[in-house]
Formats: sequence, C-alpha cells, structure tokens
Amino acid sequence: MARHYYITTPIYYINDVPHIGHAYTTIAADIMARYKRLQGFDVFFLTGVDEHGQKAEKAAIAQGIHPKELADGMVHKFTDLWEKLDISNTGFVRTTEEKHRKVVQHLFKTIEAKDDIYLGAYEDWYCIPCESYFTELQLKDGRCPDCNRPLEKLKEESYFFRMSRYTEPLLSFLESHQKFVMPEVRYNEVLSFVKGGLRDLSISRTSFQWGIPVPDNPQHIVYVWFDALANYLTGSGFLSDNGTFEQYWPCDAHLIGKDILRFHAVYWPSFLMSAGIALPKAVFAHGWWTVEGQKMSKSLGNVVAPAEIVDTYGLDQFRFFLFREVPFGLDGDFSREAIVHRINGDLANDFGNLVSRSVTMIKKFQDGKIEQPGESGGTDEHLVEQVQRLLVDYQKEMEVFAFHKALAAAFEIVSLFNKYVDSEAPWNLAKGNKARLQTVLHNLWNGIRIATLLLHPFMPRKTETIWKAIGLQGEIAETSMERESCFYHAEALSPIDKVPPLFPRIGE
Ligand code: MSP
Repeated sequence: MARHYYITTPIYYINDVPHIGHAYTTIAADIMARYKRLQGFDVFFLTGVDEHGQKAEKAAIAQGIHPKELADGMVHKFTDLWEKLDISNTGFVRTTEEKHRKVVQHLFKTIEAKDDIYLGAYEDWYCIPCESYFTELQLKDGRCPDCNRPLEKLKEESYFFRMSRYTEPLLSFLESHQKFVMPEVRYNEVLSFVKGGLRDLSISRTSFQWGIPVPDNPQHIVYVWFDALANYLTGSGFLSDNGTFEQYWPCDAHLIGKDILRFHAVYWPSFLMSAGIALPKAVFAHGWWTVEGQKMSKSLGNVVAPAEIVDTYGLDQFRFFLFREVPFGLDGDFSREAIVHRINGDLANDFGNLVSRSVTMIKKFQDGKIEQPGESGGTDEHLVEQVQRLLVDYQKEMEVFAFHKALAAAFEIVSLFNKYVDSEAPWNLAKGNKARLQTVLHNLWNGIRIATLLLHPFMPRKTETIWKAIGLQGEIAETSMERESCFYHAEALSPIDKVPPLFPRIGE
C-alpha cells in the first residue's frame, strides 16, 4: 500500500496580488511534494486562499464591491501564478466554500462542547493588517510589534477560547516532539512563548461582517485565524470526504513563513487538542525575502512580481535560485545580480555545460549509445562511492527541509563529474582506448542521470528535457528515487543526439 504524505502552504490573503514571498512558500511545498513522490509517497499537496476578515472587507469597500466579488477576481491571480510556476498541488481551498463553513462551525461547536469557549468582553490594541490583538506590553513604541503600523484600541463582546488551559498540555507535547517546529531556532521561540503562559484567545468579532458566523449567535463572526487554520481540515476532506481525510490526516508538514509561526505552532495545536483531533506532525517556518537590501513594500514600489522574474530569467532558474541562494529557514535578499550570478555559475557553467559536453561526446565517440562498461580505472570506484554518499546526504537533508544542503550535495555530484571529464579526457581515450572510453562515458552518463534526478524537484521542466536528451524514456516524475539511485547499464535508450540550449548565459 502506498505511503501517504500531506503537505500544506498557508492560504493567501486575497486583498493583494501574489509576490515573491507567496511564491517562495508555495514553491518550497512543491519541491517537497515532488521529492516525496519520487520517494514513492502518495502525496496530497494543499494550497488555497484566505478570503474572509476585516482586511478583505476593507479592500472590497475601497473598490466599491462585495468582498466575494473581490475574492472571485483575485483567486485567479493565485491559480494562474501557480500554473506558471509549475506547482503540482492536488487540492485548493477557498474559505468561502460551503464545506469550509461547515468545518469551521463544527470545530467551534466541538470546542464549545468541551467548555473551552466562553463569552466575554475584549479590549486591546488591534492591528488590522495583521488581524491580531496585542497587549500594551507587546507593543513596540506604541505600534504593532509585527508590522510597525499604528494600532486601534478595540473593545467588543467576544467569544474566548480557553487557551490558558493548554499551556501545560502544549508544553509537554513540545517537549516530547522536538521536531514539531523546525528549524530549531523557531522551536525554541515557540517553547519559550508557551513557557511564558498562554492567555485566553478572542475568537470572534462583532466589528465587521465578512466571515463565518458563530453557530447560534450570528452577530459574531468567527476570528479569521480560527477560520483560516481550519482550511487544513477542509482541504483534506474533513466532514466532506472521510476516506481522503483518514488517509492523509494528520498532516505531515505545514510550511509557513516565520511571521505566522505562533498561529500554527501554538493556537492551531491547542484548537486541535481541544477538539480531540490528532495534531500535525511538523510546522516548518522559513525566513523572509528582502529586495535589493530593502523590505518589500508597495510604497517603496519594490514588490517583486514572480511572473516577471520567470519571463526574464526562466522558471527553473527562478525556482533554483530561491533555494540555492539562501539556507531555507533564514532570511534572504533578492537581487538581479544574485540571480544572474547563480544562473551563469551553477547552471550554465557547471551543470548545463557538463550535460551538453557529455552528450556531445557520447554522440561523437559512441554514435549516441551507452555501451557496457569495459576497463575500469583507478578513480572509478571512489567516484561511485562518493555519489552513493551524496545520495544519502541529499535525502537526509531533504527530509528536514534543508533544501540548500540537498542542492549542495547534488552540485557536488556535478562538480565530481566535471573533474572526472577533465581527468579522464575522453577525447584522448577515443583515439585508442575504446574499452576505457566505454567505462568513462558509462559513468558520466550515470552521474548526469543521478544529478538530474536530484535536481528534479527544484527544476521540474529542465530536468525532464535533460532526461529525454540522455536517452531515457518516460518521465522523471513517473520514476522512483530508489530505482534510479544506482549506477546501471540501460539497454533500451533512445539515441543520444543533442541537448537543446539549457541555461543560456545572461550578460552581467
Ligand atoms: N492568510 C494568512 C495565512 C493563513 S494560513 C492558515 C497569511 N497570508 S499572507 O498572504 O499574508 O501570507 C502568506 C505567506 O507569505 C506567509 O507564509 C508569509 O510568511 C509569506 N510571505 C509574505 N511576505 C514574505 C516575504 N517578503 N518573504 C517570504 N515570505 C513572505 O498570512
């Protein structure tokens, strides 16, 4: 029976167009989804949009339209971009869907029945863009500690979730599940927050309309984060498709940015504990991108539109850059100079060049065929050993979302084979040592095939092109890492002829 793997992205607010930050989380999830498929998992990959809340309501009012109309128009901006970025999601949630309303209200009622919800009054500092309340103590110079914007003092009747009850259970959960939050620095952050004691959380609003009504008291709208987090249940079939839900829940990984860690690693598990639903297995929080050294903002006019970068530099180049340039988990800076540098260096000079010169030699010296290895030489055994070691490293790093380290392992293979070509000089062997030539080209072909396989989750299109160009039939996406992880002799290859230009150099 296939093993199951369930990964999610956050659901994105629809009051703004998607930018590089949204693309980043989604591509990261796509990389993991593709990797897990190569590992033989049956993957459920969920993304979607977060349509409710005061921010969406305000944006719609400003445009003189209903928030649903705003959402209906904006949702395509996301789905079109995901198509353009070759995102292989298998589910897409909209929080305005009827089935989602049912899930949110069910969750609310279940928690209420546990006596974990009560009606009270709430007064505190509220940040509309962050949809979050802050206490006086949390403010930074009287402003929002997260986004530094001015706040409003709000007092309203509100339902509260007894989160204070979950301080101890959550603490003992965190202590026994040290990989629940990754990377480690984020785990420590969550742990110390919970150790400080949790306070009850306001989970309804009366100050606006656009959202899901609280069951039995429609004056109240369910807090947008309670609503949004429940998407992970809706999207995997909770209440609507039990078979699917049972296969995939608990979720294997929620991928998020560091700014929304508390919602996912504190609120969400507390809600689930209260409702008696199994907790997700891991939350991974990545860093933030700045642009040319500055925070991205509309007012600075420096918001990076992913579609434009793709049109200028190519899709796989963009995907690769995001994960090669910056350790996944840390903040990074996007600059045109940096992307050009990566394309010309790693992709054109190292990987692309290795593939194209190898294919040219296979065509020229062996008529486009890979022959049985003949005479083996001194360095071969060591080479194979190193590739095996790097294959293990790659997988170990992928499992913990260390994408940059996994890419480094793949590129070490590229570099090993570039050196191998130089040291073995097939053009000299072609003049008189056919037996050795056969072995060298056989090894080279295997090395390229394995590097291509490992790079596939990051660069799904170019790697399929290379796969074909080196004579393999079928697609990488249909094969498995286990099958392709050893050096083998392929009998039935298509003739190896030439590769189309892969990563053209860009003028610096
Ligand atoms: N709707 C909520 C999520 C609800 S999930 C139950 C939300 N939406 S968002 O559209 O504002 O942001 C979604 C994601 O984009 C977050 O993971 C956030 O970290 C990411 N990014 C937004 N700007 C970013 C950068 N500049 N850099 C990297 N990622 C950033 O929050």
